[in-house]
Amino acid sequence: MTDRYQISSPSNIAFIKYWGKKDGNKQWPANGSLSMTLNHSKTITTAQVNNIDQDELVLKGSSSNQEKGIKHIQRMRQILRLESMPFLKITTENTFPTACGIASSASGLSALTLACLACWTRSKNLHELEKFYSREQMAHLSRMGSGSAGRSLWGGYVSWEPGPSSEEQILKQEFDKAHWDLCDVIVIISSEEKAQSSSKGHEAAWESPLFSARLAQLPYRLQQARLALIERDLNALGDIIEQDALDMHSVMMTGVPKANYFKPKTSEFISWLRTQRHQGNLKAWFTIDAGPNVHVICERRDLDRTIKSIKESFPGVELITDDVGSGPTLNLIKD
Ligand code: PMV
Repeated sequence: MTDRYQISSPSNIAFIKYWGKKDGNKQWPANGSLSMTLNHSKTITTAQVNNIDQDELVLKGSSSNQEKGIKHIQRMRQILRLESMPFLKITTENTFPTACGIASSASGLSALTLACLACWTRSKNLHELEKFYSREQMAHLSRMGSGSAGRSLWGGYVSWEPGPSSEEQILKQEFDKAHWDLCDVIVIISSEEKAQSSSKGHEAAWESPLFSARLAQLPYRLQQARLALIERDLNALGDIIEQDALDMHSVMMTGVPKANYFKPKTSEFISWLRTQRHQGNLKAWFTIDAGPNVHVICERRDLDRTIKSIKESFPGVELITDDVGSGPTLNLIKD
């Protein structure tokens, strides 16, 4: 009988974005970030020991990132000195469109990290796995595959601080899911895979004349976002997340090479949302990752009205309704 492990790991949406690295090899971010873990947008990964002498990775629904995944498995063996551990056969699938700004690398690379560790330690649930590696250690391993993946190891609201050196980075849960019932209505403007990978974008940021101004503001902005989170003040948090998203996209648009992830509909949508808010019709704010799709953040009590209003003004647009989630899960499947 072969033991198979199934991991479900969530995506996360950053309220304060990580963009730019001080050291790419060590995945040392230029700034601190803060995110909300999602509930339904996730990667489901199954893993088992392979009976041929190589790692196999099947990404259902997307051909990109296969090389990145295989490299990550090899990197983990090296970091953990587990070179003699068996080769793995891994199949992975997202519950949402891939690589278009719903942070598929966050869910994908965190799921892959947990899948490898589960197979190598033969842990049948997260509690058992945590006897071998702490949640924080697993988050640091995940961020080596994709920075934002480190924040997917916990539910609720999670921060990642660069610390004074690359070895002193801090990843931790700020609040669990019960702290604040926020929702995320993801407006799918386009589900095409993005043209520029985020790894290239992190490098290009340093060439933007706006990047140093962004970095100078971030510690204060992060502190204000934390305060708004503590006080569950969406008026304050909403303005901060919009500013941060637009600030990151301005850096992207002025980097070398420059990248514009916005589609005309993205701009149309955010102008519409701001107008609705200013007219007192909606209590919802936007953020946008490295893609054209818009994440509309609101409180649970405003969710139905927000969805209804979007559907009326943008008939036919695809929406994914998500909310704050409780983090990854791991199960053993016996064939
Ligand atoms: O994790 P990466 O290297 O794909 O970078 C993603 C960065 C953003 O999603 C744009 C922002 C963030 O903090 O998640």
